[in-house]
Amino acid sequence: MNRRDAHKALIAGAIGLAMGVPSRAQPRPVRVVELGRLAQVGAEAEFTFAGERAFLLRVAPPETPSPRVQRLGDVYLVAYSRTCTHAGCTVPLPDQRGIIECGCHGSRFRSDGTLLQGPASTDLRAIRLELRDGLVWAVGWLDAP
Ligand code: FES
Repeated sequence: MNRRDAHKALIAGAIGLAMGVPSRAQPRPVRVVELGRLAQVGAEAEFTFAGERAFLLRVAPPETPSPRVQRLGDVYLVAYSRTCTHAGCTVPLPDQRGIIECGCHGSRFRSDGTLLQGPASTDLRAIRLELRDGLVWAVGWLDAP
């Protein structure tokens, strides 16, 4: 990024903040869990990412490729913010049926964070993961460039 581009990005960020538009900047990476502790499908970890409560779940290998399911070594994982995409309430963890039901207005999500039923109109925001020396790190938003 040259100096002119950096200046434009700075101005755009300031305008976005002034208008209440959330920043799309990538948050600081955080260490989540040792990969070895996710021994089975269904293993989970809670963490905080970008100031939001977040959740990681080991899932079975997907039958069809999904951009939300990330493979680290031999393990398939999903991770996402627990901030409801309707109005920002923190959603609970998946129940025994694998359903997440927001207590504020009833939006429902699958255990991988995808939307089942509104009023929310989008999935829970997915988090990009990386494996570093046997540790799972949350390193950014999956929908960010
Ligand atoms: S904040 Fe979750 S359904 Fe409204």
